[in-house]
Amino acid sequence: MTRRRLPRWREVAPLIGGDVVSLPSTRRRLARAASIPDLRDLARRRTPRAVFDYTDGAAGEEIALGRARSAFARVEFTPRVLRDVSAVDPATSILGRPSAYPFAFAPTGFTRMMGHEGEIAVAEVAREMGIPYALSTLGTTSMESLRAAVPDGRMWFQLYISKDRAVARELVDRASASGFEAIIMTVDTPIGGTRHRDVRNGLTIPPQLDARTLLDMSRYPSWWLNLLTTEPLHFASLTSSEGTVAELLTRVFDPSLTPRDLEWLRGVWAGPIIVKGVQSVADAVLLADLGVDAVVLSTHGGRQLDRTVAPLEILPAVVAAVAGRTSVWLDSGVTSGGDIVAALAFGADVVLVGRAYLYGLMAGGQAGVQRAAEILAGQVTETMALLGAATVSELGGEQVRLRPE
Ligand SMILES: Cc1cc2nc3c(=O)[nH]c(=O)nc-3n(C[C@H](O)[C@H](O)[C@H](O)COP(=O)(O)O)c2cc1C
Repeated sequence: MTRRRLPRWREVAPLIGGDVVSLPSTRRRLARAASIPDLRDLARRRTPRAVFDYTDGAAGEEIALGRARSAFARVEFTPRVLRDVSAVDPATSILGRPSAYPFAFAPTGFTRMMGHEGEIAVAEVAREMGIPYALSTLGTTSMESLRAAVPDGRMWFQLYISKDRAVARELVDRASASGFEAIIMTVDTPIGGTRHRDVRNGLTIPPQLDARTLLDMSRYPSWWLNLLTTEPLHFASLTSSEGTVAELLTRVFDPSLTPRDLEWLRGVWAGPIIVKGVQSVADAVLLADLGVDAVVLSTHGGRQLDRTVAPLEILPAVVAAVAGRTSVWLDSGVTSGGDIVAALAFGADVVLVGRAYLYGLMAGGQAGVQRAAEILAGQVTETMALLGAATVSELGGEQVRLRPE
């Protein structure tokens, strides 16, 4: 028969861990989030519906976003064994400079709406992780404030070349003066895509105070308190953001852009140029011919044209077509480190993540972004080890294939 005795605190305490009593509930919930979808669940519970939907949602029937994600779900790894993965190094070189991981934080507009700590929290986590962060033209923190808050962060500026070239010119000059390393020119927004969830929710930016939002306030008091007690939401890098959001976007997006505008950008910006929103082999070849430093295969996270191809599915053909002439990056639908490793194995040089860190921001501010980054970084390293790749350069097409649909 088993003889039992009372547990002694000295023996039990180390099993519990010293943090259990003092850990605030948000930190405890974040620590228990095992995956990006777990952070998404937390985010949904902590953020007003319209804000969560703005972030989580996509254009039209959301087919493009579903496709991008299901392409990752169709990835089949074929690992190698006996490869000495005792020291896995996920570091890589991005635009000729070292990056601790092969992923970076994508530009997202309105970031302080998702969580009041906003762009500064995201840039700070990127700095701590040793990865780059891209600030959007539609950011809610100005380039100058971001640089002052995170002086040694590696930052890129995402540019919408607006109809008024003087505005675009000023943004480029300010990016240069604030020590931004590269310009990401986004080209999949001749006009704004319609997102049904935003229409149904009557989303306005900033959120308006009416009977509906007052009700919402009682459900999400801390989000509202933070919104109302911090600097009002505005497009901080734009000197004029008057009018409705729709009017502003009409001014910011220019449907008349052509390759000549890329040449214009080349004339006013001496640093690296990355073109984001490429969705075909032909355009990737065109941009490689024009000498851009990188193209990002992206459907804007499915937020612009619906029913687009999954970037992962055209990746191998694009890599083959532009091989060595420009760097090929990818985003849209990434929710795990396994997705990132799969894209690298299929030939991408860098992967951008958008919603993954925004879910973290909504779930728990800067600590939530930190948790998102930790989850992705941990999964990248683990996937590499289990695949038999000790370095990013050991990832290749032989370790990966797509199951037929
Ligand atoms: C809420 C939100 C806002 C975004 N705002 C911008 C933006 O201002 N400029 C831009 O180039 N891309 C923007 N994007 C697209 C991202 O840069 C990126 O392409 C996309 O988020 C990748 O897909 P993922 O969210 O599934 O990772 C935004 C995406 C989201 C989710």
